[in-house]
Amino acid sequence: MTLKELTSHTEQQFLKVYGRQPDWMAAAPGRVNIIGEHTDYNDGFVFPMAIERYTVITAARAAGDAKQIRLRSAHGGEAAVIDLTRPLAPFSIGTWANYPAGVVAGFIARGLNPGGFDAMIHSTVPLGGGLSSSASLEVATATLLENITGKKLDPVEKALLCQKAEHEYAGMPCGIMDQFISVMGRENHVLLLDCRSRKPELVPMTDPSVAVLIINTNVKHELTGSEYPTRRKQCEAAAKILGVPSLRDATADALEKAKSRMDEVVYRRARHVIGEIERTVHAAEGVRVSNWPTVGQLMYASHRSLRDDYEVSCKELDAVVEIAESIGFKGGMIGCRMTGGGFGGCAVALVKSDAVEAISQKIAGDYRKQTGIEATIFVSRPAAGATVLKS
Ligand code: GLA
Repeated sequence: MTLKELTSHTEQQFLKVYGRQPDWMAAAPGRVNIIGEHTDYNDGFVFPMAIERYTVITAARAAGDAKQIRLRSAHGGEAAVIDLTRPLAPFSIGTWANYPAGVVAGFIARGLNPGGFDAMIHSTVPLGGGLSSSASLEVATATLLENITGKKLDPVEKALLCQKAEHEYAGMPCGIMDQFISVMGRENHVLLLDCRSRKPELVPMTDPSVAVLIINTNVKHELTGSEYPTRRKQCEAAAKILGVPSLRDATADALEKAKSRMDEVVYRRARHVIGEIERTVHAAEGVRVSNWPTVGQLMYASHRSLRDDYEVSCKELDAVVEIAESIGFKGGMIGCRMTGGGFGGCAVALVKSDAVEAISQKIAGDYRKQTGIEATIFVSRPAAGATVLKS
């Protein structure tokens, strides 16, 4: 579904459910990270691009000027209601409406009260697939609220507001990558983001002979939910032993020297992060000069490091990457790795454009044979960040 189709669909849903036309509409994309995984909360570099999958929100002033925000998902279900006459608080854990509610709270904390409105939300970003469906929902909400309140936020402030919503309302201590790319994505560009200075650098990716393939394993291993915060703590512990503010400041040499003073697991976590930051900078350079073989090798190295040292992959993601590697550069496969937080979700591959069809079939077939699961595979160009569709 194109953004245009999604928008018109969401508009129609709004009309059907609320009985009038929406006044405001906004959209924000999901993302895929080409390389730079679990580096954002270590002040390192990430290299994501926005994808042609979006969350769209349509809204209109609440009837009778009610001081309530009603949020509905196009998938159906009860409306989530935010009562603006009372102090805002999160819904119960796991409720999708926590993402928009946290963003509303961020606006209100800045003295920007949107007043009551009715909203309809629809998304083509696969939920829980590691393509930042939650960040796209937060950023779409923030874009809608900018529109309603008439106050455009600075892009960095907007992304940080959305990250805070995720921390405080969804209880996920994420880094800054997902919200930044959903705000700042640009068509035909990948974003090299320095997560320390928060300086974005848009790297053009316009080579028509290369395509970005996203392979959804369609598995999500529900772990305890503590893996992400545990990884963060292990990174902090490593930085402390190394005597640096964050792993961004550490070198591979310094880590080797400190190895005996470190828990073995903490050592491997740090080895991943330090190596991954370096790989990310090199890969961005590779994209800039279309050095695809190098970019591909860096992607495979990233996957191995995430699998063995950071331990956030899973057998389904490993299967996809192995199939990709078996296709090889000559078969049109440049490189492949897991993308996002891990434990399921998607892999990302760079492939030769003329091999997209054959490669998609090969991966789908072999993956089905090995796991019994149907993968979902699609191509995306680097897309634009959040946009106002109607104001
Ligand atoms: C999740 C988080 C991001 C980032 C990635 C791993 O997507 O939201 O901030 O840490 O995991 O790279």
